[in-house]
Amino acid sequence: MNRRDFNAIALTSATTAIFRRLADGLPVHLSTRPPVHPFQPNLRVNAERINAHLAALAEFGKNPEGGVSRMAYSDADKAARATVMEWMRAAKLEPSIDFAGNIIGRRAGSDPSLHPLLFGSHIDSVPGGGNYDGQVGSTSAIEVAQTLAEHTIVTRHPIEVVIWQNEEGGLFGSRAVSGQLTTPELKTVSTSGKTVEDGIRFIGGDPARLVEVKRPKGSIAGYFELHIEQGGTLDAAKLNIGVVEGIVGIKQWEVTVTGFQNHAGTTAMDQRHDALLSAARFVDMVNRVVRGISGRQVGTVGRIQAFPGAPNVIPGKVVCTLELRDLDDAKIDSMYATIRKEADAIGKQNGTLFAYSELHVNVAAPTDPRMRKIIGDAAAALGLSTRQMPSGAGHDAQAMAVIGPIGMIFVPSVGGISHSPKEFSRPADIANGANVLLRAVLAADKTLA
Ligand code: GLV
Ligand code: MN
Ligand code: MN
Repeated sequence: MNRRDFNAIALTSATTAIFRRLADGLPVHLSTRPPVHPFQPNLRVNAERINAHLAALAEFGKNPEGGVSRMAYSDADKAARATVMEWMRAAKLEPSIDFAGNIIGRRAGSDPSLHPLLFGSHIDSVPGGGNYDGQVGSTSAIEVAQTLAEHTIVTRHPIEVVIWQNEEGGLFGSRAVSGQLTTPELKTVSTSGKTVEDGIRFIGGDPARLVEVKRPKGSIAGYFELHIEQGGTLDAAKLNIGVVEGIVGIKQWEVTVTGFQNHAGTTAMDQRHDALLSAARFVDMVNRVVRGISGRQVGTVGRIQAFPGAPNVIPGKVVCTLELRDLDDAKIDSMYATIRKEADAIGKQNGTLFAYSELHVNVAAPTDPRMRKIIGDAAAALGLSTRQMPSGAGHDAQAMAVIGPIGMIFVPSVGGISHSPKEFSRPADIANGANVLLRAVLAADKTLA
């Protein structure tokens, strides 16, 4: 082909220049870095679509008193997941279910040498939960992807919108990806009644192949999660956005108190080995120990069951849970040691025994300073007020912290109510959070390697 043939082809000026150099026998240096998409300062998410998706999600597992019971691995969870995958397709993402049961909606970036940038949340709920926990972050993450697609913005990094499975049971999907999920945990009976391994199969994963979803440290460019605050700080202070400094560590145990089952009418009061009496003292003691130290740590006995559970039988056994949370994992360990010592003393009073088995652990996770700055700058550019704050709730982001930099955006929860049908976040606050997420994703795409 001669020089005239080249000119006959309609080419961009850059491509034409390359061909000219080639035709002239001159060396050509191609840049391996594709250009960063141009910044569009007025780019915004479609807030109506987020609201419509939240309203649609509210139908799956809807409760008459409001809110949802859409526990992981329930029929409602499975049906909602199928709908979410449809929304991902509409957002020009390619959704798939990994072996752990997480939904991952992927879109290629322009630079194949870069690790993916992840953002997402969860759509499973606690029993009697609300319509915002996890759902705001999930619908907003899909919306961010759809906004980018509608404006034909191609990121440098591949993007992955992730809907983690069984967040509420203990970050099961995200901890599989970070490699923290242990095999015995697969036998845990989830709030849907299914074991985790049966549940993973039910939603399209394969518990026998969990090792294959594990991602090594450094294999993601970063992870963002938008979430409702679930506490009342932002609402009370009338602030728009919380920039999360770190996520609390959470440890949970199943505690079994063993006494002696006997007749409630014929056994004298000083002859009893009442497991429920010891458990009642245990509940009170946990509260006293945790409140006895300065700081923001919390401790809860959230579930309790007495056996055999009849009005005329002294309980011979009680099974309850113990949960401790703090930003400092060492403080959790020290509270646990104190609680066990005090529980032994309680047991001695009426001849009962305490035994503990660990349910699961979420290690505390600081957020990445670069991600915090990206979020703070995004909020400032949108004229939104911010506060740096810890997260008292657990989030999938803390599992992602094991493999890459994380950032979390909080929006206000009205009255600080969450894990309740009364949970509510205002549409305008959700739109703010989603727009911060959009800008943060674009900023991270420019700056993160
Ligand atoms: C999740 O919502 C948790 O903090 O338990
Ligand atoms: Mn949540
Ligand atoms: Mn929750």
